[in-house]
Amino acid sequence: MLLITSILCFFCSFSFFPKMQPTVYLSWENDPATSMIIHWYTEDKEETKIKYRKQGENTWSYKEGTYIYLGYLPLRVHSLELFDLEPNTEYEFGLSGNKVYRFRTLAADVPLVFAVGGDVYCYLDLMRKMAAQIAVRSPDFVVVGGDIAYTRGTKQLFKQKGWQEKRWITFFNTWSETMKTLDGRLIPIIGLLGNHDVERIGLEEEEIAYKFLPEIRSFKVIDIGSLSLFLLDTGHQYRVKAQEKWLEKELEKREKNSYKMAVYHISGYPSVYSEEGITPTRVREYWHPHFDRYHLQIAFENHNHAYKRTYPLKNGKYHPEGVIYMGDGSWGVRTRTPRKKWYLEKIAKVNSVCLVQIDQEKAVVEAIDIKGRVIDSVTIMPQGAGSAP
Ligand SMILES: [Fe+2]
Repeated sequence: MLLITSILCFFCSFSFFPKMQPTVYLSWENDPATSMIIHWYTEDKEETKIKYRKQGENTWSYKEGTYIYLGYLPLRVHSLELFDLEPNTEYEFGLSGNKVYRFRTLAADVPLVFAVGGDVYCYLDLMRKMAAQIAVRSPDFVVVGGDIAYTRGTKQLFKQKGWQEKRWITFFNTWSETMKTLDGRLIPIIGLLGNHDVERIGLEEEEIAYKFLPEIRSFKVIDIGSLSLFLLDTGHQYRVKAQEKWLEKELEKREKNSYKMAVYHISGYPSVYSEEGITPTRVREYWHPHFDRYHLQIAFENHNHAYKRTYPLKNGKYHPEGVIYMGDGSWGVRTRTPRKKWYLEKIAKVNSVCLVQIDQEKAVVEAIDIKGRVIDSVTIMPQGAGSAP
């Protein structure tokens, strides 16, 4: 069944060139309150610099980007990072044409809204429908928890030349079309690696994912005031154990932060796969004890193609103040049937993403299905404020 599903994944349609408008998308590597990464590509020989300004200002500033060629398609993917921006401020920017795009830097602290979902572009129609449900909620950004364009680690029967580059192009064409708010603000992507994004550790130069999203290569923690978001790598560019010491140190530094959440691809508490697998076991062995000790509240896991939420867990057992593991990666894939396991409080065979709404008083995490229905919800209190009601 899995093999058939994997093969079917690649019969999805490509929405490819011709395309008159350049494709533009945003991401972050550094402080999201004061920086922004802009990526773009087009068929034409486009400008390598952008103009930008704070909304309402008359004068443009200009900045030159860098670019990298794709291996098969005659395209250059451009990247440019803006620094020293003002927090919680709208900016507009443009390439050589008249079209103007908009982004907003994050505020220095909560409140904020973001979405988390993984296993995205297996089927384009599913990716697009779920993206529409996210965009209509105007999140500040979206974290994609791996398996973005499904270009690695799966057999394809009818390979065209450059099919992997075309899938990445289709992913970002679709992202740039759908991931904007009703008033036209572009929604940044924060990407994480999954097993279908890279071939194996050490193939740095050949990986197409890094050309489209170079900042995806690092595990990191993004601090947004009282929220710390740990973005981890379940063995795709860095091994699970190799991140342990770093993780412990960074969690310890933030022990008293109000909100601590993690996102990574392969589940430590899977809803479909066996929890005895190598990576789930490593995740529980090397990361979870530190989550427990430093009071991480939620870990968003993926890779299983179903929806799940665990009971709060600590030291591998139920604990009312333990960590909740949720998600399980079902944005744009054919869903699988989750199994009943002792640690799972809620399971569903649905396409879903999680929407996180955080303010100073609480964080509400809702699981949204592909029709926009809230299928599950959990409320997290800030660290030190006690359990949620
Ligand atoms: Fe996966």
